[in-house]
Amino acid sequence: MNSLSEQIRQLCKEKNAIIMAHYYQRPEIQDVADFVGDSLALAQVAAKTNADIIVMCGVHFMAETAKILCPDKKVLIPEPAAGCSLADSCKAEDLAAWKAEHPDHLVVSYVNTSAAVKALTDVVVTSSNALKIVKQLPTDKPILFGPDQNLGGYINSMTGRKMDLWNGGCHVHARFSVEAILSLKQQYPDTKVLAHPECKAIVLQNADVIGSTQALLNYAKTHPEQKRFIVATESGILHEMQKSCPDVEFIPVPPEMTERIGMCCAQPVANQCGCNECEYMRMNTLQKLYNCLRDEINEIFVAEAVAKDAIKPIQRMLEMS
Ligand code: 13P
Ligand code: SF4
Repeated sequence: MNSLSEQIRQLCKEKNAIIMAHYYQRPEIQDVADFVGDSLALAQVAAKTNADIIVMCGVHFMAETAKILCPDKKVLIPEPAAGCSLADSCKAEDLAAWKAEHPDHLVVSYVNTSAAVKALTDVVVTSSNALKIVKQLPTDKPILFGPDQNLGGYINSMTGRKMDLWNGGCHVHARFSVEAILSLKQQYPDTKVLAHPECKAIVLQNADVIGSTQALLNYAKTHPEQKRFIVATESGILHEMQKSCPDVEFIPVPPEMTERIGMCCAQPVANQCGCNECEYMRMNTLQKLYNCLRDEINEIFVAEAVAKDAIKPIQRMLEMS
């Protein structure tokens, strides 16, 4: 009997399917995938694939984005309940009300949003391209930015713009312990801190490199003189970092103690290992991936009227990236 991974690869061949995985997926899912990347790369690859079926190993908004870009393809997700606390923090009706209060503002939305929110947006951004895209927007136009307040604050600090920020955040990135970073920096004085822009401002102020998962990975790959990094993003990225840089030590920043109980490794237990995982990302398993591809279940649909409006700001993003 072939291993589950081998059977998944066989199904991909038979069905002309492509498996795409985010860096926060379980290691065994990253290893079986055709493509592993950050949110921007997943959208870019989805837009170009010739596969008939896309299995999106990530969270719901990523599968939705792929479906909007490829309406004629079958898009599946191993676990349909894999959501995102950040996307959930901004409902379309609330964004519509905010827009109505600011009719002259451009709306810039992070890709971590529902299709309905994207449909109300002028341009979508990811953590890879947010800075680059906001810099291209007319300076005389005020901007509503949502839903990630930390990313929005970081862009404001880098561009001098005064975007109005939605009060949302990612519960995983918001809970990194700055005390742990300071103590790790003291223990390893010449070690660079790599941080995702969804982290709190105080964490970003103590970081040496700020960027998307792909950007942080690229930094580690292109700085072989560094033998150790302190990493403040979801710990799934450590799998690819370690594969790419086997001789380097990657130290995951732990969550704040008060938040750690019940949050580790998606298990309802006290955290002993110090990792910081997104329980939504970890809902996908190899077995669920196999079942979903074999039975072609958990298909993602986006209402035509919503998709028609949501595709415009996504395409604008791809053009401006
Ligand atoms: P990137 O994939 O842009 O690094 O964002 C991380 C994230 O939180 C995805 O949910
Ligand atoms: Fe959402 Fe945060 Fe999980 Fe990314 S890490 S999917 S932003 S909850």
